[in-house]
Amino acid sequence: MPYDYDALYQEQRHALGEPTKAFVDFFKKYDQSSVQVLDLGCGQGRDALFIARLGHHVTGVDVSPTGIEQLLADAENENLAISGVVADLHDYSPDATFDVVVIDRTLHMLDAEPRLDVLRRILPAVKPDGCVLIADEKSNLPAIHEVFAEDDALWTSIKDARSFLFMQKV
Ligand SMILES: C[S@@+](CC[C@H](N)C(=O)[O-])C[C@H]1O[C@@H](n2cnc3c(N)ncnc32)[C@H](O)[C@@H]1O
Repeated sequence: MPYDYDALYQEQRHALGEPTKAFVDFFKKYDQSSVQVLDLGCGQGRDALFIARLGHHVTGVDVSPTGIEQLLADAENENLAISGVVADLHDYSPDATFDVVVIDRTLHMLDAEPRLDVLRRILPAVKPDGCVLIADEKSNLPAIHEVFAEDDALWTSIKDARSFLFMQKV
């Protein structure tokens, strides 16, 4: 039985704490302004909110209606450019293209095969020069690597350490 994040979000606002440092560090150095960012499994938006505060446009996708509702309430309070989609990643295909895709500890929630299928559906929606930032269990990263390797000429690694894999489309 997967962990019930919707119940957690109902009990506690900002349950997952501060944004993930590796993502904060990436955006500190990122030299593009007002880009389109997709946050898959955004939860209550600890990453989506800090990214939008930098002036980027964020689309957050999560299966938890409570997470998306709270994200949109925070976005409205701060007048941030965030849109929210309640969707199951097993069925989700983006209908736009993105400069950065953030997937922070979401892929491990899916079984091994669908986890890779989700990634295969998302990668075509990354713009040229765009980046995919993944944080996940270290043991899942080799298979995730393989998905990028299916289109080897298209992707270069910009961070590959511990539980992080950041790739850029060339
Ligand atoms: C560990 S939390 C991470 C949330 C957020 N990325 C963060 O770092 O704060 C995992 C998130 O994945 C979402 N999730 C799990 N399975 C999902 C699915 N099949 N489709 C969409 N979201 C899913 C959960 O609702 C939860 O918000």
